[in-house]
Amino acid sequence: MSEKVLRLDGVWKSFGDHDVLRGIDLAVAPGEVVAVIGASGSGKSTLLRTVNLLEPIDDGRIWLGDADISDPRVDVDEVRARIGVVFQQYNLFPHLTVQRNITLALRHVHRMRRDEADAAASALLQRVGLADKAGAHPDRLSGGQQQRVAIARAVATSPELLLLDEVTSALDPELVGEVLDLVHELADEGMTIVMATHEMAFARDVADRVVFLDEGRVLEQGPPSEVFGAPREERTRAFLARFSA
Ligand SMILES: Nc1ncnc2c1ncn2[C@@H]1O[C@H](COP(=O)(O)OP(=O)(O)OP(=O)(O)O)[C@@H](O)[C@H]1O
Ligand SMILES: [Mg+2]
Repeated sequence: MSEKVLRLDGVWKSFGDHDVLRGIDLAVAPGEVVAVIGASGSGKSTLLRTVNLLEPIDDGRIWLGDADISDPRVDVDEVRARIGVVFQQYNLFPHLTVQRNITLALRHVHRMRRDEADAAASALLQRVGLADKAGAHPDRLSGGQQQRVAIARAVATSPELLLLDEVTSALDPELVGEVLDLVHELADEGMTIVMATHEMAFARDVADRVVFLDEGRVLEQGPPSEVFGAPREERTRAFLARFSA
């Protein structure tokens, strides 16, 4: 029995002779919001991708609830149905309307009838303030609107865990706020979130815990007030100093 939504035990991942994740231990409790920070190349995206089974790991274990999802015999589709994922960009199917982007997941993952899926998608779009865009194709939306749809789609299936990988880093600065506001709302509603982000102010504001990845290791972690306010490690201080400069 595990009270954690997600647990990584000693996760190693190499590409060739490059050890990208070097023994990651991480446990995420229900409703917890974990911000993963660290320099470019430190392994943040790789970490999220291992959880979503996009990258096989070389050693260690990953648990989603009580299921060992690092077991090679695991049903990948079943695992992915339990996890919502949003990347930096290109999340939506360009040839489908906004509405269909959302109903697709509902129909395939939750096996909803079309009318049920349509009703659920409409309610979600209303929620994220995009009801008027239901019939539009993604290329008619701003980047911020597209990311709000992508997030709506990711949570439509009521995932146990939401993985967000730099969801605002491809956006024009004026569009960042609307996306972060939505993430904030989901966090307030109790969604369990692991997000890689370089939005330090946002991480400070919304995360329960900040995890600093350094060359594939968790060098330091704790509440934002500690990691940002009084980092213990010199390398954490050096990393953060680049952001406040
Ligand atoms: N498929 C791959 N093949 C080979 N090397 C890879 C692959 N994916 C990632 N890497 C390498 O793994 C390291 C970590 O990459 P990763 O994308 O996880 O970093 P990151 O912390 O997300 O960086 P960023 O802040 O730039 O997004 C990098 O050196 C990268 O080049
Ligand atoms: Mg990345």
